[in-house]
Amino acid sequence: MSDIDRLRSDHLRAVSEARDEAALEQARLQALGRKGEISKHLRALGGMDPGERKLRAPALNRLKSDLQGAIALRKRQLIEQALDAQIESEVVDVTLPGRPRRQGSVHPVSQTIEEVSAIFADMGFGIAEGPDIETDWHNFDALNIPPDHPARQEHDTFFVRSFKGRQERPNVLRTHMSPVQIRALTAQGAPIRVIAPGRVYRCDYDQTHTPMFHQVEGLAIDRDVTMANLKWVLEEFCRAFFEVEQAELRFRASHFPFTEPSAEVDLRCSWKEGKLTVGEGDDWMEILGSGMVHPNVLEACGIDTDVHQGFAFGIGIDRLAMLKYGIPDLRDFFDSNLEWLEHYGFLPLDVPALHSGLSR
Ligand code: PHE
Repeated sequence: MSDIDRLRSDHLRAVSEARDEAALEQARLQALGRKGEISKHLRALGGMDPGERKLRAPALNRLKSDLQGAIALRKRQLIEQALDAQIESEVVDVTLPGRPRRQGSVHPVSQTIEEVSAIFADMGFGIAEGPDIETDWHNFDALNIPPDHPARQEHDTFFVRSFKGRQERPNVLRTHMSPVQIRALTAQGAPIRVIAPGRVYRCDYDQTHTPMFHQVEGLAIDRDVTMANLKWVLEEFCRAFFEVEQAELRFRASHFPFTEPSAEVDLRCSWKEGKLTVGEGDDWMEILGSGMVHPNVLEACGIDTDVHQGFAFGIGIDRLAMLKYGIPDLRDFFDSNLEWLEHYGFLPLDVPALHSGLSR
């Protein structure tokens, strides 16, 4: 074998045995790099006599170009192999079944809002919405609470800086859901039958108070709506919500600026060994505020008080959820504790409806 044949077989083998691009580069340098074996032979041609050079030069140049071809081929093979390996390792089997662990659950507050909405929808109430940041007028003035009214103090209001500058009084985080009734009544006029569930804000914090909580307020205005209708609606609501045959309510005279007369409503119940039973027993539990809408409120919304009148009520949603589902501390509602949610949460696909049983 001539020395050129040996060079050819050694270097071609090195190229074909390279397992990755780094090894291939190594083989290339050893043959064709500045200090590579073949480069040295090529350089040596310059010092040879013409006869010998004529013999060796074509063979060496052919070897060089063959080797370059082999290197390019091997490089393409290695890239393809690497791509195949990557595709293999990143394969996703879309036919695998899902993982049942870590299924989300519905928060008891959301569940309770769904339940309350289902009950009132069944009695012909629509759902009204409004902004969390309210004007002072919607949250207070229109509800018969003028700027100097003492009831303003009781609301522990959060004020929001107004960026308009021109506005005389700052906006507020709504302290109750009544401003949504003002908006619905102004927009829709009478007759009207709506509930407004949502977040409300007051600066307060202990076992039964959080700075943000939930209320649902109801409003029914028509030509001949009376307190008797209010009582029936609330009794029906309690029966349906607590899923009992009988719910007895007690109306206690009270005062709210936006209703006249006003009543706080208690529900007959019993507490035995920490368990609440609704509809029987000797205890009374306060569950809501209500009354006949004050004529000043109706007038602020452009309603003719000679023709229309009606009732309004406001219920704490979190409190309802605590009572129905035996949850002792309100603050836990807003701690985003997954274990708590797993324990008290509801299945996402069980949408509450009266015909299927509210809270199966
Ligand atoms: N807006 C009252 C509150 O949050 C509740 C209420 C509504 C009372 C409607 C009576 C009538 O304090």
